[in-house]
Amino acid sequence: MAAVASPPPDASLHSIVRKKLGGFVGFANLPNQYHRRSVRKGFHFTAMVVGESGLGKSTLVNTLFNTSLYAKKDVPLPEHDRPQTVAIESITADIEENGVRLRLTVVDTPGYGDFINNDQGWKPILDNIEARFDAFLEQENRVNRQKTIDNRIHACLYFVEPTGHSLKPVDIEFMRRLHQRVNLIPVIAKADTLTDDEVAQFKARILSDLAHHRIDIYQAPQYDLEDEETIAENEEIVRKIPFAVVGSDTVVATSDGRQARGRAYPWGTVEVDNEDHCDFVKLRQMLVRTHMEELKEHTADVLYEKYRQEKLLAMGVAQDHSVFKEVNPAAKMAEERALHESKLAKMEAEMKMVFQQKVNEKEAKLKQSEEELYARHREMKEALEKQRVELEDKKRRLEQGRPLTPEKAQQSTKKKGFLRA
Ligand code: GTP
Repeated sequence: MAAVASPPPDASLHSIVRKKLGGFVGFANLPNQYHRRSVRKGFHFTAMVVGESGLGKSTLVNTLFNTSLYAKKDVPLPEHDRPQTVAIESITADIEENGVRLRLTVVDTPGYGDFINNDQGWKPILDNIEARFDAFLEQENRVNRQKTIDNRIHACLYFVEPTGHSLKPVDIEFMRRLHQRVNLIPVIAKADTLTDDEVAQFKARILSDLAHHRIDIYQAPQYDLEDEETIAENEEIVRKIPFAVVGSDTVVATSDGRQARGRAYPWGTVEVDNEDHCDFVKLRQMLVRTHMEELKEHTADVLYEKYRQEKLLAMGVAQDHSVFKEVNPAAKMAEERALHESKLAKMEAEMKMVFQQKVNEKEAKLKQSEEELYARHREMKEALEKQRVELEDKKRRLEQGRPLTPEKAQQSTKKKGFLRA
């Protein structure tokens, strides 16, 4: 049979012909299929909040999703009664809007400012993020991947204290440790405590600190294909980072008689949803309306992928450069069999070595006890010989010193006379 030369891998690309359709075929409906399937399956998103204690993390989470995630038995807890977060805890809620279901998980971390030594405060948080990557990696390697659960953190809101100066060393250390593992979104907490000018200056200082320390925060991508309106929307969102936010899940009366979520002060009301008052709306827009899928994609394709590569390389799994070659199942099986056999041979050699070692030890022990036995035998023999010699000696002496019996005396005289004759 004549061998058929396989075409070069990219030959199929050269043979692509662009065709104009004569009529409607129907695949233009594909996005609608995707839309229907997504709505049926629902969406999920996991966000983490990190920052010093009491900066309003829990309050902002409630404000963001317009639901009291921190509620006991459906009874919302007032802001001031909300317990302090003392351990990393996840809260999951199923929320629905216009028939679209979103399973939202918020990972609340304890504020780190309470500890005298905050040097290692980032560690449990980083461990938590990496443990989620590990869990996903473990699921990917399972035979049955039907029920893969994605618990990876898609966005991490990092709360900066509204000092108006610059980032604190502890903030820099935290973000430096986390930025390669999670989409970092810095927010200036309790922005109602700063004036507009202070907010603008503080933002510039934070951005220059981040650039100086080479900390990558999440960058909303600008796609070429997007329409102008979306591009402008994106640009506006990017311009607002780090978002200066105000959190409140209580409704207050505004100066013009409206009811709005906000914080009431003697001099006026700060409205959470008013873009002239803070960047809360822009943050929510980015997280929920425009970039939720993008944040998930960046987590999966860039951050997780990098972690996965590092992890596998550390485990000694080398990059398979044959990925672009055609996969030959027989060769793959032969390769696997050879690998298995070499593993077995290695195990056998190890077992033999252990066995030989044990035999040697046993032999050495036996030799030692044999020598001991010989030594004991020799000692006993010598002792007995000594005893015999002593007894002989004693006997001789006894015989020499004892008077002769009449028969013996007669025998002795006879012997003497005979000798004389
Ligand atoms: P830990 O659980 O200790 O980490 O605190 P946290 O960061 O979750 O803070 P929490 O949401 O419990 O809020 C702490 C206090 O700050 C509460 O009294 C809130 O009412 C108040 N607070 C929350 N958000 C804001 C805000 O935007 N501005 C002001 N001025 N106060 C706020």
